[in-house]
Amino acid sequence: MAQWRTTSAYLLNLLKILFLTHSFNSLTQRLFVELARCGHELSIELDINDAVTQQAAELFQPDLIIAPFLKRAIPETIWRSHVCLIVHPGITGDRGPSALDWAIMHDCHEWGVTVLQANAEMDGGDIWASEVFPMRFARKSSLYRHEVVEAATHAVLTAVMRFQSGTFKPVPLDYSRPDVQGRLHAPIRQIDRSIDWQQDSTLTVLRKIHAADGFPGVLDTLFDEPYYLFDACMEEHLTGKPGTIIAKRNNAICRATTDGAVWMGHLKHRSPAGLTFKLASTLALKDHLIKVPEIPSDPFSTESGNTYRDIWFERKNDVGYLHFAFYNGAMDTAQCERLREAYLQATRSDIRVIVLIGGPDFWCNGIHLNHIEHAASPADESWRNINAMNDLAHAIITTDRQLTIAALQGNAGAGGVFLSLAADYIFARASVILNPHYKSMGNLYGSEYWTYLLPRRASASHVTSLTRNRLPIGAQEARNIGLIDDYFALNPADFRRKIALIAETIAINPDFPALLQKKAQQRRSDEQQKPLQSYRDEELRHMQLNFYGFDPSYHVARYHFVHKIPHGWTPRYLARHHSR
Ligand code: COA
Repeated sequence: MAQWRTTSAYLLNLLKILFLTHSFNSLTQRLFVELARCGHELSIELDINDAVTQQAAELFQPDLIIAPFLKRAIPETIWRSHVCLIVHPGITGDRGPSALDWAIMHDCHEWGVTVLQANAEMDGGDIWASEVFPMRFARKSSLYRHEVVEAATHAVLTAVMRFQSGTFKPVPLDYSRPDVQGRLHAPIRQIDRSIDWQQDSTLTVLRKIHAADGFPGVLDTLFDEPYYLFDACMEEHLTGKPGTIIAKRNNAICRATTDGAVWMGHLKHRSPAGLTFKLASTLALKDHLIKVPEIPSDPFSTESGNTYRDIWFERKNDVGYLHFAFYNGAMDTAQCERLREAYLQATRSDIRVIVLIGGPDFWCNGIHLNHIEHAASPADESWRNINAMNDLAHAIITTDRQLTIAALQGNAGAGGVFLSLAADYIFARASVILNPHYKSMGNLYGSEYWTYLLPRRASASHVTSLTRNRLPIGAQEARNIGLIDDYFALNPADFRRKIALIAETIAINPDFPALLQKKAQQRRSDEQQKPLQSYRDEELRHMQLNFYGFDPSYHVARYHFVHKIPHGWTPRYLARHHSR
């Protein structure tokens, strides 16, 4: 073991843990936050090639290697010399790729996560821990971000404690045991996923698209061109000839099935060169949709029934809940503008509290990088998008008739985190991960009035470390440094209940007028010290250089992000073993 290990780390039996992962995705980030909270020393190596993995293990000399999200096998030299724990998104005994995809396709009522030790047999190693959860009828990406992340966090923390104990013997996989229900399965193919629009029911279509959501999508044909389908939801009222596109609304198109219809929010064109990426369906099919009727939906409508809507408002007593469930948390110019309009309409009503509740999977991840990449001038579209975002943030900051709450049910990143700081109170679900920084996107400076909003809440040293370190933080850490007011509840339903209680309590507080007055006074005094417009102008001067200046870093980073170009090397702020 390396000599530099501190005495207290020895005494507490803290470990040096190397993460070996395809990308620093939401699960990896959550495990990183949880294990760092326990005091373990962590370093990350992206799975680039065997030589890089080998070098990382030599430099870091880890006690344990964890692979939260891998697409390749761990090299034999590594698993023979280190205990390597693989996080497999399947129940005990399940082996092979596309585990969650199959579980959704087979309509399993229960699924799970298994932490097993890497050996020569893919997913066949000894078992260190496992967890099960009830399945929801939901998109794979949503199940992954909620149930799988939660179960994996439990299982990994258990496995690490068992490893620390030094006495635990992992259990060999034994298919003769009645509790081992999983089986080896083949990789799922597009032919397994294909939709027969003349035969499949709405539920079957939804299940197929859900099972492929996030990646890779269901390959289908639209206007004689191949597209991958994503982001589906049910339509309860519209019907038409099965397979035809019968309506459009904002970003989505509605396609008739044999017994109803489904909306599809996102498409990815399949091109031989492979240089395509997900776009809003109405953008991807723009020229073909001229004759398709636009069926608008009023965010304030109280009509019930399943349909597609990305912004909607609910009122209960004196509290208004503004939902904005944008796919992947990305907000394009039009979405920012629509959300601002809905927000302003809410402020004109007689409600006392506005809860900005985001979507169930994400609160917000900032400007829409895919739509920017697709634009004729990405620089111009970046400029429009950030200004629309700023207009929204401005509307929230200057609200003087209501108190506002940002309620983060899901994760937030970059401008999305700073947008949440525009509210008067910020609460997050306990397992939420925040990425309060812009720098990883090609040294983007960022706007959303962050230079005003962040120092209002965090100390100067925290401002510096948050923006420079580019690391994710958990809700607990965010609360500890004052970035958010509090965090609670793992379960989304419990979170929403508690938020409703807080909002109602604020709304009926006899001191409500005084609280509102205090807020207005603070705003006036802040404005006198430095007008909001000055913050905005300063930030946008930097952004102008990012978008239009000589340094193309932002455009290069966005291109890599949108096209999912694999990393050629692990960023040094993650691969800490290089700084030793
Ligand atoms: N614009 C467009 N798409 C975005 C996005 C954005 N701002 N932020 C995330 N996404 C997409 C990702 O491309 C990915 O797409 P996929 O469904 O095709 O895989 C999906 O959202 C999930 O993102 P992923 O990176 O897998 O999620 P994560 O939870 O693991 O990581 C972030 C979250 C926020 C760290 C990461 O998505 C990120 O860095 N986003 C960019 C933030 C940013 O720089 N915004 C612009 C400045 S305001």
